[in-house]
Amino acid sequence: MSEETKSFEPTIIGFTCNWCSYRAADMAGTARMKYAPNVRLIRLMCSGRLDPTFVFKAFANGADGVLVSGCHPGDCHYINQNYKMLRRFHLMKRVLAQMGIEPERIKLLWASAAEGAIFAEEVNKFVEQVRALGPLNWHPGNGAASTVHTPMSAEEVPA
Ligand code: FES
Repeated sequence: MSEETKSFEPTIIGFTCNWCSYRAADMAGTARMKYAPNVRLIRLMCSGRLDPTFVFKAFANGADGVLVSGCHPGDCHYINQNYKMLRRFHLMKRVLAQMGIEPERIKLLWASAAEGAIFAEEVNKFVEQVRALGPLNWHPGNGAASTVHTPMSAEEVPA
C-alpha cells in the first residue's frame, strides 16, 4: 500500500434499517466499540426502502463507498422487503460496474440489533477495502456518470 493510499480517508455512506442495523451501530457506540469514523449513516425504516438512485447520488456526490445494511433474511419487519433489496443490490453492482465503478465499493451487511461487534468489525473491514481502492472522484458529467438521471421533482415523474 502506497503512502498516499495509507493516508487516504474514504468517505462512506451507510444506509441502515431502523430496526436492526441502525440499532447495531447504536449498540456499538454505546458499548464504546471502536470503529472507523469514515461512515456517515443514513437511517431508513427498512433496507427495502433503498432506492438505487440513493446509491448513485451518494457516489455522484463524493462517496468513495456505500454500505447497505438491514435485518437478516427472514427478520425484516416489513415481511420480505430485504429480499427485494437483495435483488436490487445485485443489480446495482452490475450497473455500477458498467459505469466504471468497482463493485467492491458497495457492501451489503446483514446485522441484527444485538450485533454491534459484527457491525463495527465489518465497517472497519470495508473502510480498509475502500481505502485500498483509492479515491473515486466520480461526478455526473465526467464520462458515464452523465447518464445518471435521478428524477426529484413532481414535474419530472411521468404520470
Ligand atoms: Fe430491517 Fe426491513 S426492517 S431490513
